[in-house]
Amino acid sequence: MSQSNEAVRGSAPAVDTAQLAVEDQRTGRAYQVPIRDGSVRAIDLRQIRTGPDDFGLMSYDPGFLNTASCRSAVTYIDGDRGILLYRGYPIEQIAGHATFLDVAYLILYGELPTPQQLAEFQRAVARDSAIPDGIVALVESFPRDAHPMTILLSAVGALAAYHPEAKNVEDPAVRASVVTRLIGSFATLAGLIYRHVTGRPARVPPPRGQFARDFLCNLFADSPEYEPPQAFVDAIEVLFILHADHEQNCSTNAVRSVGSSLVDPYSAMAAGVAALFGPLHGGANEAVLRMLREIGTRERVAEAVARFKSGHGRLMGFGHRVYKNYDPRARIIKQTAERVFAVTGINPLLEVAVALEGVALADSYFIDRRLYPNVDFYSGLIYEALQLPVGMFPVLFGVARIVGWTAQWLEMMSDPEQKLARPLQIYTGPGRRDFPARF
Ligand code: CMC
Repeated sequence: MSQSNEAVRGSAPAVDTAQLAVEDQRTGRAYQVPIRDGSVRAIDLRQIRTGPDDFGLMSYDPGFLNTASCRSAVTYIDGDRGILLYRGYPIEQIAGHATFLDVAYLILYGELPTPQQLAEFQRAVARDSAIPDGIVALVESFPRDAHPMTILLSAVGALAAYHPEAKNVEDPAVRASVVTRLIGSFATLAGLIYRHVTGRPARVPPPRGQFARDFLCNLFADSPEYEPPQAFVDAIEVLFILHADHEQNCSTNAVRSVGSSLVDPYSAMAAGVAALFGPLHGGANEAVLRMLREIGTRERVAEAVARFKSGHGRLMGFGHRVYKNYDPRARIIKQTAERVFAVTGINPLLEVAVALEGVALADSYFIDRRLYPNVDFYSGLIYEALQLPVGMFPVLFGVARIVGWTAQWLEMMSDPEQKLARPLQIYTGPGRRDFPARF
């Protein structure tokens, strides 16, 4: 989670000398715990003990509701105010004004690229988007009805077999060298997977260095003449920018956690894909579409909302761990959807989505719990308008989020405070007992 908004505005630095006074009522002893950046260090609690045999006080936080796992300079979110900043720049000022690769460069390296840096980055991503023949064969070996995310998961992990040098993760030059390969490979894999699950022959058109355009060609170019409509290219640029990073979300945490074992980056990124697959995270865009299809018409919206309120299923695409206000990405996506529908015609499910949003936002269940539409509520409608099967939706999320995963992995790898991610537990099983003699 992010630090106070004051710190982002650049006001007075946090006072390093602030202390939390703690009295342990079990022993009557008093402790001073330093407060820094609005946080206490969990390890400082360990000194609070009832006696020499006591392990020391731990913090207990399933799901990390109130635990910062790292210091990060990449993305800032103020969930109460609906603010999202990449390296300080508000998402509203970025989306629609920069290309995905401009933003990828910003997220990865901290500053926007010069025209020359961008040109070099575009060339490197295009060059490194080539995929070994063995990976193409692996993708093609899957049943055509396999979920696209299961294919992506396997293929990303398998890349480690073709790039064994990447395991030298403690070498900064090796780490730097995988960045463009990760971004390029995900885009190529998404194309191959789409073509496989839709029964098309594998085809990887030569990239031009224009990421969103090249990406759409990976999917849809059945002949060299194909050019995607500009409205689709623009929509992909915006959608990918909105999904590029989101600080310590579930999949980024998975990448950092697995990466902390010093495994190769492909294996760490495969962990990110696995986490993203789940319906509470990146799989939500797919789940939204399935839900909208099931509801079917606006007349059935009220009945569906009543079902969600009674605990039967969730209103997918609503609610967020951090945003307790309208997700700023959802607002931008809604505008993008309108531009895409101007070309494709309105997706009939849009009417259901708008009615659903209207009913939920006026209902005390959702108001009291501060549940608002998130990024996934409208993104699936755009992907469907591009005629993508629902299983591809989280794959597209991954093609964008590889940027954030990579940036956060690089940050973690050069952070001297980071260690092997290894939480503790509160043991609830039986006490010591003797194993029965009959075995
Ligand atoms: N529909 C109905 N009730 C909900 C929903 C929802 N979508 N989300 C939360 N609630 C209720 C939940 O039942 C609980 O109620 P109560 O206090 O009565 O038990 C309360 O709100 C708090 O929910 P929670 O599960 O404790 O909150 P969380 O912070 O753990 O969950 C969430 C965040 C995103 C997992 C959840 O809101 C959710 O399941 N949303 C639907 C799935 C979804 O759209 N996920 C995409 C998230 S954005 C994309 C990304 O970055 O991954």
